[in-house]
Amino acid sequence: MRTVGTFAEVRVAAPSGAALVPTMGYLHEGHLACVEAARARSDIVVMSLFVNPLQFDSSSDLDRYPRDLGRDAILAESAGVDLLFAPNIGEMYPEGPATRVRVSGVSEAMEGAHRPGHFEGVATVVAKLFAGIRPEIACFGRKDAQQLAVVRTLARDLSFPLEIVGVSTVREADGLALSSRNVRVEDRESALGLSRGLFAAAEAAASGERLAAPLEQIVTEVATDTGAKVQYATLADRHSAAPIEHLDCEAFLAVAATVGEVRLIDNVFLDPDGHADLGTRLAHPSILYEKLNL
Ligand code: PAF
Repeated sequence: MRTVGTFAEVRVAAPSGAALVPTMGYLHEGHLACVEAARARSDIVVMSLFVNPLQFDSSSDLDRYPRDLGRDAILAESAGVDLLFAPNIGEMYPEGPATRVRVSGVSEAMEGAHRPGHFEGVATVVAKLFAGIRPEIACFGRKDAQQLAVVRTLARDLSFPLEIVGVSTVREADGLALSSRNVRVEDRESALGLSRGLFAAAEAAASGERLAAPLEQIVTEVATDTGAKVQYATLADRHSAAPIEHLDCEAFLAVAATVGEVRLIDNVFLDPDGHADLGTRLAHPSILYEKLNL
């Protein structure tokens, strides 16, 4: 695996047909599942690693975001990444940037409402990665369900000629969805309220509940009972990310909550027939907590 810092170097090393896995680093098995999906579809896997300041709504959240390039390089290489693109801020945003990408509609509810400017930051950096690297495939985790909808809309509207692949959420053995932020969670029991609430709502959907309000209420009640502070629990259309009142289309049920200082999000994908994608579970502790021999 090579590590490069400029778009020009990526285009020389991976001139065409690459599969891209965009990340902000501090890798876990969720990222590695995206690498696996990328490897299954392409001979060349490029991972980008850039903690994108544009998508953070507070400078303290940006400062506290975990970073460890040495660790990420080892994990990326062992997962089969061919090229690690780790640009500095000057390569990504030479002058500011003056150009921002805003994907209206799909960006507005849920995360968009609670984190103003977040999706503009995501869309701007993803558009730059697509334009600068020109991948044929890009893999994103379903854990960020609304982000996935934003990226699909962006790729369609800006005519990026690539396939977007959504990869199932990977969970820790106790059900907590993997996130680089989990290393900062102190109150594990409260954090588990998000996934437990979602699983309980998915069971209700499997038993025939189709109304959004009771499904959302189950999530809120279970998560609140564990001590998580719920910001929203919303059933949304999978493609438009618009809140819906009935489960009558491909949808996701999303929750955001704070646990102590840490803000967590999670979701389950639901079909109109009540089937759910709850993600996959690790049988062992995540590499997030492993000390690697660097
Ligand atoms: O999901 C993430 O890690 C980020 O939002 C992404 C897609 C890499 C853009 O910075």
